[in-house]
Amino acid sequence: MTLLPIIVAPDPRLKIETRPVEAVDDDLRAFLDDMLETMYAADGIGLAAPQVGDERSVIVIDLARQDEDPAPMKMINPEIVWYSDEERVHDEGCLSLPEHYAEVVRPDGIRVTYLDETGAEQQLEAEGILSTCIQHEIDHLHGVLFVDHVSSIKRNMILRKLKKAKKQAAA
Ligand code: NI
Repeated sequence: MTLLPIIVAPDPRLKIETRPVEAVDDDLRAFLDDMLETMYAADGIGLAAPQVGDERSVIVIDLARQDEDPAPMKMINPEIVWYSDEERVHDEGCLSLPEHYAEVVRPDGIRVTYLDETGAEQQLEAEGILSTCIQHEIDHLHGVLFVDHVSSIKRNMILRKLKKAKKQAAA
């Protein structure tokens, strides 16, 4: 397995629209394993393909705590087909916006359809943190970051700080 470099915002590669996977094959399965390894190494709970510079529509998630066994989820071509009216607020972070957090309001419940790593169609209903996490990762597949859900003042502040940190790191 390979650790993949994680792209930090602002970066045009995080703003792309991904393309649906047409064939679930060994190449894709290896990529999903690389994504999971990359996510674990960065102490993340979710990762979407554009964050590692890939244009395929796939996400990985693992919400298991450190004292629990890993519970990796891999979703190919995920699509939300239902949202609840109830909402929940979560202080979201993102491996592509390191050290920045903001409260985001999203629907609490969702139903998501996707392909699993055998290519079989699956459907899942989720609420709470799992729902928030799935929505956050699927956003990435459409070029949307959590800061796109908060005020432009807050968004610009975070992106400006990240830009400055990048410049300093490059200097
Ligand atoms: Ni993210």
